[in-house]
Amino acid sequence: MTKNIAIFASGSGSNAENIIRYFKENESVKVKLVVSNRSDAFVLERAKLLGVPGVVCPKSMWVSGEEIEKLLKEYKVDLIVLAGFLLRIPDSLLHVYPNRIINIHPSLLPKYGGKGMYGDRVHEAVVTAREKESGITIHYLNEHFDEGEPIFQATCELTAEDTPEDVARKVHALEYEYYPPIIEKLLQTI
Ligand code: GAR
Repeated sequence: MTKNIAIFASGSGSNAENIIRYFKENESVKVKLVVSNRSDAFVLERAKLLGVPGVVCPKSMWVSGEEIEKLLKEYKVDLIVLAGFLLRIPDSLLHVYPNRIINIHPSLLPKYGGKGMYGDRVHEAVVTAREKESGITIHYLNEHFDEGEPIFQATCELTAEDTPEDVARKVHALEYEYYPPIIEKLLQTI
């Protein structure tokens, strides 16, 4: 039976694009839609070019989550994949999709996680702290930012010369390599 994915993203969407491309020819996994809270998010352009419907759900819709729940039912979504999505997911959605919502975070959680820690802010903090390594964490979502049960981590080494941009490049490379196959593996258990 086909498994359906919805990707939630707020910004550029390079991970979303990578995931869509990964499953493009897959008969049993479909990326059914991309949901963004921002109408100007570049991820919507990427989705359009790749033939995946993009839906804008403004901030007000993320309070009760009722309309979003309806939308996901309509598209028969089995797994929600967060890829650079910055709003809080309503508790009601967590209850409807228990262990069916995953996130990727651009650090080795629990380091450099929590509210306000996202994207380049994470890499800047890592460089300021002179960390010798960084990486990615793929985890289930719970009601606390970046605290859900970890599924997978991968590490990259840093040098003393690395700028936040260098760290971002290394971390993005790990995200592109590992997020799609981890999603694929997870879907086999659903
Ligand atoms: C990714 O690095 C992702 O790990 C991060 O935002 C970036 C989105 O890039 N997510 C978070 O920081 C969540 N706390 P993209 O839009 O190019 O995929």
